[in-house]
Amino acid sequence: MYETKYHHTDLSNQKILITGGAGFIGSHLVEYLLKFGAEKVRVIDNFMTGRRENIDLFINNPRFEFIEGDICNKADCDRACDGMNALLHQAALGSVPRSIKDPVATNRINVDGFLTMMVAARDAGIQRVVYASSSSVYGDHPGLPKVEDKIGKQLSPYAVSKYTNELYAHVFGLNYGMKIIGLRYFNIFGPRQDPNGQYAAVIPKWIDMIKKNERPVINGDGSNTRDFTFVENAVQANIKAMCTDNESAFGQIYNIACGNQFSLMDLFNSLKEIIGSNIEPVFGPNREGDISQSLADVNKAKTLLKYNPSFAFNEGLKITVRK
Ligand SMILES: NC(=O)c1ccc[n+]([C@@H]2O[C@H](COP(=O)([O-])OP(=O)(O)OC[C@H]3O[C@@H](n4cnc5c(N)ncnc54)[C@H](O)[C@@H]3O)[C@@H](O)[C@H]2O)c1
Repeated sequence: MYETKYHHTDLSNQKILITGGAGFIGSHLVEYLLKFGAEKVRVIDNFMTGRRENIDLFINNPRFEFIEGDICNKADCDRACDGMNALLHQAALGSVPRSIKDPVATNRINVDGFLTMMVAARDAGIQRVVYASSSSVYGDHPGLPKVEDKIGKQLSPYAVSKYTNELYAHVFGLNYGMKIIGLRYFNIFGPRQDPNGQYAAVIPKWIDMIKKNERPVINGDGSNTRDFTFVENAVQANIKAMCTDNESAFGQIYNIACGNQFSLMDLFNSLKEIIGSNIEPVFGPNREGDISQSLADVNKAKTLLKYNPSFAFNEGLKITVRK
């Protein structure tokens, strides 16, 4: 699909459970781990927002296993954890606006589901856990770039759910000796991200619209910024977090981004240029619960995990448009 830049040398004795592996980031983790020789890659997903076609790519690989199951169901989680030595927890209900509309569903999947899966991992003796948190945890803290230990008040139920994951991860490390690492993703994008539906992420949605010659809506005046991050950078962070031997890396939370800020207008103009369109956007109101400026300080991940984002924003955009 595209040339991988990060090559991990030895995954041959790894048996990894990926929750949410039929989704966008999860399916990239599966692809990477199978490609670089993991002994077993098992996915649990209930297709809440994921797609069967994302796992069809791997279904004939003898090192791949799929469980159609719910992370809120302990028996499903136990079955998924059995015999595994690492857990990459990606399953969640994404989207800030969706969480504002239905906070109960967000809490059930992102908090109860997280907890159920963590207890199953504990019971199965899985020590290594890497889980997806989010830049939304920074809430109303005005500081830029965002540094891991300076957070404000969360602005949406989604952000609360991800912050709650971080709190639980801390006490699981403390009480059960698990080696848990949280990754605060900042606007991850790439191939296989779903462009459809009212809660679609901005990049796949705009690519789809611009290609169809439809005018995308920019919420606000276009000056809101994001630290857009190509998916292989997030994959690299997961693999490095899963494999690190650095004792001081465990029990920590890391920003996963590029450390560069682009406005929505920058994004729109880059996409127009890559696609070769002369369409103009429509400007709409700011979205509830949105952070206006977002930029990560990625030094902690660079220092403790040896994270080194290898795909820049524009390079990732070109791959995503081409896919
Ligand atoms: N994409 C981003 O920019 C971004 C940013 C910050 C955080 N995150 C987090 O990263 C993770 C992966 O996000 P994504 O963009 O790949 O989203 P996605 O929606 O593509 O993937 C989530 C997967 O979880 C599955 N799932 C949902 N509820 C489930 C349940 N009860 N049981 C089993 N499976 C269930 C879905 O079917 C889907 O396949 C999520 O935790 C998300 O909150 C993503």
